[in-house]
Amino acid sequence: MGMLRQNYHEPVLAAEIVAFLVRRAGIYVDGTLGGGGHSRAILQALRESGQAEGSLLIGIDQDDAALQEASEKLKAYEPMTVLVKGNFQAMGSIIKSVSAQKAVPDKVTAILLDLGVSSFQIDSPERGFSYRRNGPLDMRMDSGASLSATEVVNGYEEHELAKLFFRYGEEPRSRTIAKAIVTYRQKQGAITETEQLAAIIRALTYGGDNVIKTLSRVFQALRIEVNGELDVLRQALYDGIDSLEESGRMAVISYHSLEDRIVKTIFAEKARSDWGPKGVALREPLERGSITLVTRKPLVASQQEIDINPRARSAKLRVIEKIAGGELSCKQVR
Ligand SMILES: C[S@@+](CC[C@H](N)C(=O)[O-])C[C@H]1O[C@@H](n2cnc3c(N)ncnc32)[C@H](O)[C@@H]1O
Repeated sequence: MGMLRQNYHEPVLAAEIVAFLVRRAGIYVDGTLGGGGHSRAILQALRESGQAEGSLLIGIDQDDAALQEASEKLKAYEPMTVLVKGNFQAMGSIIKSVSAQKAVPDKVTAILLDLGVSSFQIDSPERGFSYRRNGPLDMRMDSGASLSATEVVNGYEEHELAKLFFRYGEEPRSRTIAKAIVTYRQKQGAITETEQLAAIIRALTYGGDNVIKTLSRVFQALRIEVNGELDVLRQALYDGIDSLEESGRMAVISYHSLEDRIVKTIFAEKARSDWGPKGVALREPLERGSITLVTRKPLVASQQEIDINPRARSAKLRVIEKIAGGELSCKQVR
């Protein structure tokens, strides 16, 4: 158990991330800086392989506490890092502004997204991400953002809550849970703490395992809604691919099927060349894929890693590489 806790903050699939991404000196972007674990592994690998010169790591996070934590962890690499508070959705413009400020290229060598919340966020009851300890029903990664989970849980109508739990939590009893929340609101007032919400769900669910799964699904759904997680992910994938230099790579670690489906679909779409309607002979595709899939199937953590870092259990890593001359629109019909 001591072992588990000690390694709780270890970055997931770190060796794989380094092996896929660190190939030359250049501009590295960690869009989900968190506690800085992956960034430190990348910077260390750059330094140890003699590629620190000419390298810069742009670390982005929307959470002030994460930036604070990461800046401590990355102190030894300070001259090689620029840490930015922001949403990775705006990665393209963040890269451009850092590149102007530092007089470096605005196309980057590698991008990492390690999605979701960090163990620091989960372990802080005052952030309201966890049903395990009581705290305000907040769930905002960016504490300056306007929508919190309290507003969603108390402000959404029953059918909106049901839809949310179904879409973002894939919760089979979404309607029952939404109904119980609205009944509670009417009879007992606002739901402002994680424990209040957890108690409503526990009262509807039987069997220890079931209760935990239901709580996880409902809390996941709220977190996705509060932070607009799926929309920002889509935007970041398109922006990220655009921002890569030729043969630059992007790696994404996702933790649930909704995220992984988006990553898989957008990567497949950008990798595909469009040969137009069947039966029309073309010398060149109408549109050429702009990336290749470095990992055809998602990579998962080894049992050994999962044993020491349980967070790795649901991790899926997909990696792509930007190719030369992608996105041509070439309509040479024979
Ligand atoms: C799983 S943690 C990353 C952990 C990190 N790789 C490490 O090794 O410590 C995810 C981090 O991404 C941040 N994050 C999630 N979505 C974000 C977004 N749209 N924009 C910026 N940061 C985001 C969270 O605040 C959190 O700190």
